[in-house]
Formats: sequence, structure tokens, C-alpha cells
Amino acid sequence: MLACLRAPVVLAPMAGGVGTPALAAAVTRAGGLGSLGGAYLTPQALRDAIREVRALTDGPLLVNLFAPQPAPDVTPDAVALATAELAPFHDALNLPPPTLPERVQEDFSAQLDVVLEERPEVFSVAFGPIPPDALGALRARGILTVGTATSLSEALALHESGVDAITVQGGAAGGHRGGWQDDALADTLNLVREVTRATPLPVLAAGGLMTAGHVRAALDAGATLAQCGTAFLLAAEAGTSAPYQQAIQAGTRDTVLTRAYSGRAARGLRTTLTDAVHHPLPFPHQNALTRPLRTAGAQAGQADVLSLWAGTGYRQAQATGAAQIVASLTP
Ligand SMILES: Cc1cc2nc3c(=O)[nH]c(=O)nc-3n(C[C@H](O)[C@H](O)[C@H](O)COP(=O)(O)O)c2cc1C
Repeated sequence: MLACLRAPVVLAPMAGGVGTPALAAAVTRAGGLGSLGGAYLTPQALRDAIREVRALTDGPLLVNLFAPQPAPDVTPDAVALATAELAPFHDALNLPPPTLPERVQEDFSAQLDVVLEERPEVFSVAFGPIPPDALGALRARGILTVGTATSLSEALALHESGVDAITVQGGAAGGHRGGWQDDALADTLNLVREVTRATPLPVLAAGGLMTAGHVRAALDAGATLAQCGTAFLLAAEAGTSAPYQQAIQAGTRDTVLTRAYSGRAARGLRTTLTDAVHHPLPFPHQNALTRPLRTAGAQAGQADVLSLWAGTGYRQAQATGAAQIVASLTP
């Protein structure tokens, strides 16, 4: 898979601002596989980001979206509970009271059309299998397809669906749990071993891989590539906001699994908000509901209202150029 890579390192797609075209291009130029997390981008912004990477490198690129799913219904009572929990945080930042916008997610099929037209070398999704018609269209354009599994049963379902490779995400990983079934938190290396024994597909190991030794261990367990996100949070080319960077560098917070920001379980640094929210709306509603707070918080330097996605290894993140980080992850 992608024999042209000089380093067995994939930049984990990181939607929401951390992953930038400059970061993707820097990782690809350093011999790894750069990526764009496009889930929250409008189709036009996704196209612009892909073209920005293409202007910086002619090497390979991975683009990632969230598998399409209808937004679940939410009752007025549930909205009232969720907004009441966020109201004090809005007050503290002088924001108007939280309200649920009409549009809570981007249109997957319009985003996919951009992918099909721009033809990144690799396309991956989180939160479910790639729909069969999308898979066929991607195939027809020679785009490699990757699904995300957090358990053996999800990996088997992805194999069955016909993808070319599987990202196997362990419980240590930063950001959202990329699977779609309620699962236990797996040890990354154990799950890689199980999946590589049970399916013939190449595996991208994700979760807690912060050093060349960790990457070596993942490859020894059977992985073809290591997909690293948290290792790049402090990269010079990353879009990590200043308060987010400071919280990572301070190293004083625990990581927790929380639904407070998006309604889906994700691993990040513990904040006042992760402690205060007990009744989040389901994804993607909560994500849309907390967006104004997160935007204002980043501007005001308030880390405690930001989704500080980070894996358990976050204290080993290095503040340096992405090329240097790729080199430090290469066995
Ligand atoms: C800030 C951040 C954002 C993320 N966003 C996405 C995303 O948009 N799509 C996705 O498939 N995975 C996303 N992930 C998860 C990564 O793909 C990957 O599983 C994880 O970073 C690997 O574990 P590590 O953080 O310990 O390296 C994100 C992770 C982080 C840290």
C-alpha cells in the first residue's frame, strides 16, 4: 500500500482546525502520508484545502470525512436540558444564550463529489462503513478506501464491505472514537494483532503512537502504517489554537472520554465543560450547539470551553516542525 512512502507514518486526519493544508503537505514532503480531516468543511472549503496541499506537494494525500448518517430526532426537552448546561458558559463569555442551529452537519454527498473530482490518493471515513455507491465511485477513480474500526467485529464488517484498508483505533487515541458500535476501549497493539490475523487487509494502527519505538511495535504487531494524531498537535504547521497548545504543553490535565462537546465519545483533556455537561444532545446536534462557545473560547484564550482532543500520550508531543516529528516517529 502506497509503496512510495519513505516513512511508515500517516498524519491522522484532524478535523476542526488542527489539521491544516500546510501540515498535510509537510508530512507528505517528509515521506509520510499527509491528510486532511474534511468533515466540518463546506464542499468549497474542502476543495480549496485539497488544492492548497496540491500546490505545496505532488506527493500522496489522504482525505477523511464522517460516514453519512441522518441526524437523530431530538425532543424540545432534551434541547432545553442541553442548552441549560451550556448557558453559564455563554454568560461568562458574554455570548447570547445557546441555540440549536437549523443546519447541524455538512452534506456528505456534496463533500464526496469534491473528493471524487479532486482525487486524493486515499479516502478514509470514521463513524461507519463507506456506503456501497460511494465505494464504487471511489474505486472507479483509483482512490484507495479506508474505514475505521475500534473492535474486531467492526474490522470484519469493514472487510466485508470491500474497503482496501482499515484504520484500527485503540482506546488511547485522541479525538473521536472512530467506530460505530458501542465497544470497549481496546489496546492498540492487541487489536492490530487480532485484526491482522482475521483479515488480509493492510492495517493503519492508531492510538498512543508517539515515538519511533511505538511505531516499531505497531509494525511488529502487523500494522502496515502508523496513523499518528496527538504526536502532531504541537507541530509548527498545525492549526492548534494558542490556549489548546498551552494546555498540551502544561501537561497537567488528565485525558477523559467525553460526549460534552459533540455528543459522540471522544478523548480529550479534561475541562470545566467536560465536568459540567451531563445531558449532551446526540451527535451532530451537540457539536453544532457548542460551536459558538468553542469559537469564542479560542478567541478569548479560554481553554476550559474548548474541545482539547488529545490521546493518552499527549505529554510526549513535540513542539517542532512536522518533518522533524515524522523523522522522530520513523523506526
Ligand atoms: C485533534 C484530533 C482530531 C481528530 N479528528 C479526526 C477526524 O476528523 N477524523 C478521524 O477519522 N479521526 C480523527 N481523529 C482521530 C485520529 O484519526 C486517530 O485515530 C488518533 O489521533 C490516533 O491516536 P493518537 O491521537 O494517540 O495519535 C482526531 C484526533 C485528534 C487528536
